[in-house]
Amino acid sequence: MDDIARAIVADGKGILAADESTGTIKKRFDSIDVESTEENRRAYREMLFTTAGAEEAISGVILYDETIRQNAADGTPLVKVLEVAGIIPGIKVDTGAKKLAGSPDEKVTEGLDGLRERCQEYHGLGARFAKWRAVITIAGDRHPSAACISANAHALARYAALCQEAGLVPIVEPEVLMDGDHDIDRCAEVTEATLAETYHQLRIQNVRLEATLLKPNMVLSGTDCPKQAGVDEVARRTVEVLKRAVPAAVPGIVFLSGGQSDVLATEHLNAMNALGETLPWKLSFSYGRALQAAALKAWGGKAENLKAAQQAFLHRALANGAAARGAWSMKMEKAA
Ligand code: 13P
Repeated sequence: MDDIARAIVADGKGILAADESTGTIKKRFDSIDVESTEENRRAYREMLFTTAGAEEAISGVILYDETIRQNAADGTPLVKVLEVAGIIPGIKVDTGAKKLAGSPDEKVTEGLDGLRERCQEYHGLGARFAKWRAVITIAGDRHPSAACISANAHALARYAALCQEAGLVPIVEPEVLMDGDHDIDRCAEVTEATLAETYHQLRIQNVRLEATLLKPNMVLSGTDCPKQAGVDEVARRTVEVLKRAVPAAVPGIVFLSGGQSDVLATEHLNAMNALGETLPWKLSFSYGRALQAAALKAWGGKAENLKAAQQAFLHRALANGAAARGAWSMKMEKAA
């Protein structure tokens, strides 16, 4: 499994997160006024997965349970479409973030029951890696509670161990949300505490770190914070926290975009890789919205827009591939 984890973060490559649950993809389709039918979801994802050239920058795609069972219009399983392009299929295995009993304003991610069997089934369907997203909210000094961090880290570790047992590389995703008016210092503090507890729990559960990837948030100012940290500060603070908390045995760190604009998510990743520091892990991307927003808009639910949508997706994929090497520049956006 170590080889799969390393292949996902090969030079200049990262992940497309296309694992929106049925509820989340409906929200995305609502924004372009397209009905979220099974056929529209299938057609949209086929458009993304058949984009010629995307495999230069996309090493893996995270699928949702519905998608891993769907076929392209010509009858080829979508998993096969990805494999033929040299892209590794992955699967979201959590069942969503639910109210945390001991602290009801916070959430804990569920999905451990029956996970062993589901991992085995997904491996049989072609998945080679998995994703589980924990959600940590910042609210002043009150949240996150110790209960929230500890329950989520424990679930992530149980999930990771079960994935490895089934031959799936677990992507460990503890997302500290950017919502709130907190400053970048508070985000750094919470992110570091969350990562420290996560690696403590992974160790207790005997997870092999070489066969995992981390999917964290970047260290950012809260969305409503009046003082927004610039790109260089975000890059420096994010790398600083990661160096403190993420063991060198982890082969790669693939950021989520979390609601940042697509170009800013690229710019931040590029700035980290352009710092010139020698780091023990690769820094790359596992973006959902930041890879798809432009393509979704260009597609608009119409078959005749396929080429334009694929062009928009390819552009973002290649821009992020360049950012994963620290070789992106704003010129790439202007030329597009
Ligand atoms: P965003 O990049 O849109 O945050 O999505 C990534 C993801 O998969 C969150 O779990």
